[in-house]
Amino acid sequence: MNSATATINNQNDNNTMIAARNVIKKYRMGNQIVSALSGVDLEVEPGEIVVVLGTSGSGKTTLLNIAAGLERPTKGELFIDKYKLNQLSERQMTLLRRRYIGFIFQLYNLVPSLTALENAVMPLVFEGVSPKEREKRGKTFLKQLGLGDRLLHRPGELSGGQRQRVAIARALINNPRVIFADEPTGNLDTRTTKEILALLLNIIRENGQTMLMVTHDTEVATYGDRVVEMVDGYITDIYSN
Ligand SMILES: Nc1ncnc2c1ncn2[C@@H]1O[C@H](COP(=O)(O)OP(=O)(O)OP(=O)(O)O)[C@@H](O)[C@H]1O
Ligand SMILES: [Mg+2]
Repeated sequence: MNSATATINNQNDNNTMIAARNVIKKYRMGNQIVSALSGVDLEVEPGEIVVVLGTSGSGKTTLLNIAAGLERPTKGELFIDKYKLNQLSERQMTLLRRRYIGFIFQLYNLVPSLTALENAVMPLVFEGVSPKEREKRGKTFLKQLGLGDRLLHRPGELSGGQRQRVAIARALINNPRVIFADEPTGNLDTRTTKEILALLLNIIRENGQTMLMVTHDTEVATYGDRVVEMVDGYITDIYSN
């Protein structure tokens, strides 16, 4: 991040790991404007697990993508650690994401032609880690997630819960400071949801990582230290569990 650091002068002065200040996101649809976020303020402390809870269309994915630097806001400021996302170029943002951020998606987003092991270690390929070291770290991670006997299976040869565990391994393999998760158990049954969340949160808490997770499921929200409720692009309530 050296090149990015040099260009940043308006830094986050708080001790937060994720911060959103008065974030507005409008989409233009023909001549109609859709307000997805209408002035959202959110701070997540280092090591904190925050769950954004809201019904479909309330703006959860939009908020997550903007907080993670995948999308730009129409207005408002975003910070990850000391970095102000608004001031980063696309290249700097890519570097920040690679080094700081892990993503977990509802539909796993695995590469179908690659094995579980190859999928899990993909972030290490971009980091230039040697194949031998990649294999070692990938195996360790997948074993920890109970997939030691599925290393060579491709996504199509795995169950939904197993696929999501591979995606979790991929998100965590380079030990990111921040994890963003968009309905990570949205496609799984209740029992598998509990298993996966327990596994994920164990690892995250053990490593002191920070997580922002979004869901429509009140049961999933109980896993957060704090819950942020969203309705129609506004935060309507924030409470601790
Ligand atoms: N690219 C886009 N163009 C236009 N409108 C969009 C776009 N992305 C999202 N929206 C609108 O913004 C609002 C918020 O969408 P968002 O995807 O953030 O909701 P969500 O809370 O994640 O919903 P879900 O639980 O269904 O995933 C919705 O009304 C949606 O139609
Ligand atoms: Mg969504």
